[in-house]
Amino acid sequence: MYEKKITLKKNSGFLAGAAFLAATAYLYIQNNSIGVTTKYISVTNLPKALEGMKIAHVSDIHLPVRESRMNAIVRSVLKERPDFIFLTGDLVETSEHIENSGLETLMKRLAIIAPSYAVPGNHEYEPFASIQEWKEILERAGVHVLVNQSAEAEYGGESFVIAGLDDNTEYKTGRIAGLDPGEKRLIFLLTHRPNHWDTLCESDAQPKPDAVFCGHAHGGLWRVPGIGGLASPQQGLFPKYSEGVHLFEDADKRISLIVSRGLGNTGLTFRVNNRPEIISAVFNAL
Ligand SMILES: [Fe+2]
Repeated sequence: MYEKKITLKKNSGFLAGAAFLAATAYLYIQNNSIGVTTKYISVTNLPKALEGMKIAHVSDIHLPVRESRMNAIVRSVLKERPDFIFLTGDLVETSEHIENSGLETLMKRLAIIAPSYAVPGNHEYEPFASIQEWKEILERAGVHVLVNQSAEAEYGGESFVIAGLDDNTEYKTGRIAGLDPGEKRLIFLLTHRPNHWDTLCESDAQPKPDAVFCGHAHGGLWRVPGIGGLASPQQGLFPKYSEGVHLFEDADKRISLIVSRGLGNTGLTFRVNNRPEIISAVFNAL
């Protein structure tokens, strides 16, 4: 009887140890192993030359990170052979000691892969605001920074527009420099937060973008099967826009809101059922 008790105790100790190791391994993978999600985005009246264009969407890295993680990010993007790279904010956790965060090294490595465009997130502004330094580092690395600005890009001989919003800014007529209100070409809009887009189709925002790229929500941190993300900043519990592609039908075009789960964590938070993500967006005609 006594021996049986000892065996039972040993067994339960072994099971508890195994469960702890399994949980640790699961959480390590959930927070460190990068997944690339391919999304096929259909666009109204997409010019033939732009069909098949691929964009690597990288968001919420929250640098600094270990060198191995930085290598994994570069490897994942490189493997996709993207035509453009979009970076939608929170590239750094804080702008304090930004020069030692690895930002310049990572941006240089990405900008070599494909023309890269970036907007700032809330972490670029807090708690040690140094947006100017952040911008200078990115531009030195060869990344185009768009803060309420737009740029013309080209693919297959066809030109289109990439516009970028400052953090926590609504998309309104006249807000983005260089964006013609009568613009008829394809428009990609980069913005950090997905919060403002419920009213996009009804708003006075002209011209409407064809695709909006954003992050910030970190996939809702813990993803509950059958429900979705648990919580996101500003959206609260069970956020509507925590990942994936959300469609808005406008009078003359479809607008795709592409929300990345992002790559990093902030503070002491950790992910469950929500691996770090790079989106590979491939465009085709609707
Ligand atoms: Fe953010």
